[in-house]
Amino acid sequence: MKVLGIDIGGSGIKGALVDSETGKMLTKRHRIPTPEGRKPKDMALVVAEIAKHFEHKGPIGVGFPTIIKGGVCKSPGNLHKKWLNLNVKELFSKATGLPVTVVNDADAAGYASMNYGVGKGKKGLVLMITIGTGLGSGAFLNGELIPNFELGQIPYKKYKKIELWAADSAKEREGLTYRQWGKRFNKFLSYIELIIAPDFIILGGGASKDFSEFESCLKIDTPVVPAQLKNHAGIIGAAAAAMR
Ligand code: BGC
Repeated sequence: MKVLGIDIGGSGIKGALVDSETGKMLTKRHRIPTPEGRKPKDMALVVAEIAKHFEHKGPIGVGFPTIIKGGVCKSPGNLHKKWLNLNVKELFSKATGLPVTVVNDADAAGYASMNYGVGKGKKGLVLMITIGTGLGSGAFLNGELIPNFELGQIPYKKYKKIELWAADSAKEREGLTYRQWGKRFNKFLSYIELIIAPDFIILGGGASKDFSEFESCLKIDTPVVPAQLKNHAGIIGAAAAAMR
């Protein structure tokens, strides 16, 4: 079935039509910058614009960059605080006039990698870490999603949450090289290794496509690999979530 997958991030909202059976993208990705202020109404308009761009009339799956429970935002992450406790599923369904499923963005990316990518068949505790405006995390125990893991929220030194120091946005903001940023990211991974002892870590999000630039900075014992689906994992996983 043709499903519209939409991956919502702090800097861009990306969509494509996906074959929900094979997990293959059927169209090119369409990207619209996330409106400044990251407010609900403005972002809903962009979601509607993406559905219109594809002339889509079927189900939509959305990967959303906050904790999501039953379609409701339970912590606004890096978005506007108006999102808190808002029913995102209802908002986007109204904006598009189509049935919408909403899940956390890193859970969506992880789901794609576990079903169609490098995580397929992997047992134990597998983590998808998405590197973007924030640090997202999707956790899978023997292939089953444990929703809304929020490892980027761990406080670090003067930072309220470690993602403010170690996400891709920190690299951009501070003009860090991949080497400088890679050391920070390795620190983040070393905390994760210590706290939850994962068996396998997959990296997604924008920065994952440049894995070779920072691979040598990663010194933890747990195997770390980039998602083969690269930045498309979010779109494909969001579409798959709509069919679950
Ligand atoms: C949010 C997460 C999200 C991550 C990546 C964080 O700020 O708390 O829910 O998965 O950003 O977008």
